[in-house]
Amino acid sequence: MKTILITGGAGFIGSHVVRLFVNKYPDYKIVNLDKLTYAGNLNNLKDIENKPNYEFVKGDIVDGDFIHKLFEEKQFDGVIHLAAESHVDRSISNPTEFVFTNVIGTVNLLNGAKNIWKDNFSDKRFYHISTDEVYGSLGEEGMFTEETSYDPHSPYSASKASSDHFVRAYLDTFGLPAVISNCSNNYGSFQFPEKLIPLFIHNIKNNKPLPVYGKGENVRDWLWVVDHARAIDVIFHRGKIGETYNIGGFNEWANIDLIKLMCREMDKKLGRPDGESEKLITYVKDRAGHDLRYAIDASKIKRELGWEPSLQFEEGIEKTIDWYLENTEWLENVTSGDYKKYYEEQYVKR
Ligand code: NAD
Ligand code: TYD
Repeated sequence: MKTILITGGAGFIGSHVVRLFVNKYPDYKIVNLDKLTYAGNLNNLKDIENKPNYEFVKGDIVDGDFIHKLFEEKQFDGVIHLAAESHVDRSISNPTEFVFTNVIGTVNLLNGAKNIWKDNFSDKRFYHISTDEVYGSLGEEGMFTEETSYDPHSPYSASKASSDHFVRAYLDTFGLPAVISNCSNNYGSFQFPEKLIPLFIHNIKNNKPLPVYGKGENVRDWLWVVDHARAIDVIFHRGKIGETYNIGGFNEWANIDLIKLMCREMDKKLGRPDGESEKLITYVKDRAGHDLRYAIDASKIKRELGWEPSLQFEEGIEKTIDWYLENTEWLENVTSGDYKKYYEEQYVKR
C-alpha cells in the first residue's frame, strides 16, 4: 500500500483531488494535510471522510519541525502539493503571508521528502501544483508554453514562481524526483466566493453589485476543476520526472463577456426578466498590477499523456451555477463570520 500526502486537500482544487484519489485508488492511503485557513473547509469532503483509505491531519506547512516529524512518522511514497495562499487580491494586501506559506511551506515539504527518501528515489514522486500566473501577462496574441520565461507580477504569482524554482533546484541539486504543472483559472463546485465566478454567482443571487475591475477587458482561460483533478492524476502517475506540464481549457473569456454570460444564465435560472442581472454590473477601480491576458498552450499534456478537457465551458458554467444555487448551506457557511469583514475591506471602500 502506498501512502500519498496531499497538501491543501480541504481547499477548492485539493478537495476535488482528494475525492478522486480516495475513490479511484482504494489501495493508496491518502493523507490530507491542511491548516484549515479561511479557504479550507472539511465540509468539502463530507462524502469521503469516513473512507478507510483517507486520513485528515490538521497542520501548518510553514512549521518545519512539524513537517519533519510528519514525514518521519508517515514515510510518504508520494506528495501532491496544493496548499497555498491562492488569492491575488489578498496577496496585494498581505504579501508576507504568501512568502511564508507558498515559499517556506514548499521548501519545508521538499526537505521532508529529501530527508525520508534519502537517495533512494525509486517509485517516489514530489508533484508541485502551480499556476499559469508565473508566466506573467500576454498581449492579444500568443500562448504560454512550458518554455515561456517566468515574469510574475503579483505577490501571489511571485511566491508561486519562487516555489517552482525551489522545486527545480531540489531536482537539479539533490536529484529529488519532482514534476510540476502550471494550470489556468479553475472553476466549479467548492470554490471560495472571493474568486470571480462564485463571488459573482453569490452576488447576482443576492442582487448585490458585481464589482468589475477596470473595464472588464482582462482575459482568462477557464478550466473545469474536475478536469484539473483528472490532469493531476495523469501527471502524478505518468508524467516524466523533471518535466513541466501546462494545463488549460483552450477556453479564453474576457471578464465582461463571462460576467454577461453568467448574468443571462442566472436570469433564466432565477426567473428574472432578460437583462435584469446585468444591471448589477458596477465598474470599480482596477486591481493593481492586473495581468491583461493568460492563455495556456496545453498541447504537450495532450500529446504526451493523452489528457484534454472533458467538458465544454457552456455546460460547465451551467453545472457550476446550479451547484451554488443548490448548495445554499455551504455558501452561507463560508460567507458568515470573517468573510463579511474581508468583503467590506476589499469592496466597500473601493
Ligand atoms: P484554496 O485557497 O481554495 O485552497 C488552499 C488550501 O491550502 C486551503 O484548504 C488552505 O486551508 C490550505 N492552506 C493554506 N495555507 C496552509 C498552510 N500554511 N499549511 C497547510 N495548509 C494550508 O486554493 P485552490 O484554488 O484550491 O488552489 C490550490 C493550488 O492550486 C494552489 O497551489 C494554487 O496556487 C494552485 N492553482 C490554483 C488555480 C485556481 O484557479 N484556483 C489555478 C492554478 C493553480
Ligand atoms: P480571480 O478569480 O481573482 O482569479 P485570478 O486573478 O487569479 O485570475 O479573478 C479573475 C479575473 O476577474 C481577474 O481578471 C480579476 C477579475 N475580477 C473582477 O473583475 N472582480 C472581482 O471582484 C474579482 C474577484 C476578480
